[in-house]
Amino acid sequence: MSVQEAFRERISLFHLEHQRRVADWLYWWAPAEWEKSRWCFRSSAAAVIAIPTGCAPEDGAECANDESGWIRWWAIADGKSETKHLRFALTQAEEALRASGVHRLWTLSLPAEWPSRALLETLGFSRVETLITLRKTLIAPQRLLTPWRVREFQADDTASLLSLDTRAFAEPWRLGNADLRRLLACSRLTLVVEVETEVVGYLCAIQQSDDAESVHIVRLAVDPAYRRRGIGTALLLEAQWQLARQGVRIVSLNTMEGNYAARKLYAALGFKATRTPAWVWQKPLMP
Ligand SMILES: CC(C)(COP(=O)(O)OP(=O)(O)OC[C@H]1O[C@@H](n2cnc3c(N)ncnc32)[C@H](O)[C@@H]1OP(=O)(O)O)[C@@H](O)C(=O)NCCC(=O)NCCS
Repeated sequence: MSVQEAFRERISLFHLEHQRRVADWLYWWAPAEWEKSRWCFRSSAAAVIAIPTGCAPEDGAECANDESGWIRWWAIADGKSETKHLRFALTQAEEALRASGVHRLWTLSLPAEWPSRALLETLGFSRVETLITLRKTLIAPQRLLTPWRVREFQADDTASLLSLDTRAFAEPWRLGNADLRRLLACSRLTLVVEVETEVVGYLCAIQQSDDAESVHIVRLAVDPAYRRRGIGTALLLEAQWQLARQGVRIVSLNTMEGNYAARKLYAALGFKATRTPAWVWQKPLMP
């Protein structure tokens, strides 16, 4: 048994003193689902979950659908030698991701929390963007009529949604097949806008806690060929109306600080920035 295998036997993520600092509110897989997967990498006292974009826990090395990978979880047993232990786990992760065709590794952190800025920089990450959360209290929204046909998602829309998501989002935010299917399976509300038979916009909201009155909109995307025609607005208005009827009071969502189009749209509909912004980090993986 190699040292690495011995660690794998002995160290469970849940025996580590978790320092979960990758924002859970952005994701819909539980850490336990990754623990036994090939995408969980450990030292004797640290672990990282590092996943090529779009991969699921059961996916093999060939699953990468992009040149990006995400670190979704950092954990360490105690504060001792954190750089050494994380570097060990990270090196394994990087080798595996590189072998799957990943060239850039991404992660998120919250400014005042672990892993610190200094630690991430020591591990080779650079801060590239800021992610903000906005929120809104729904107070008796009206159902406003728009020229667009907004309807609920149906299972046979899945392939169109995947294609639309790929067209609408840039790396590393676009979803892969596994992520999209999982998201749709756990969504509280998914709406699409259809033009003739083509899906040109979608919105997906999930409930991330036991609080049935709070919902997070995790996806909003409009086909680049159909933007600035009110489709994003139509999706959000219909979602607010439907969610309010289901008893939802708070709706939140995220966007990049530099995504002026989305921010303008959200501000026009009354969303306000909340919560400490998260930092987005990137590390190029050399061939
Ligand atoms: C953000 C996005 C969903 C907007 O969809 P859309 O259908 O173009 O939005 P709307 O036509 O309803 O725009 C409503 C208002 O938002 C603002 N807006 C939208 N796009 C804008 C842009 N490119 N530049 C400036 N303002 C913009 C405007 O105020 C606009 O009103 P106006 O056209 O009367 O000036 C779309 O650009 C998109 O899919 N972007 C990529 C994915 C993304 O960023 N998703 C959201 C963040 S997670």
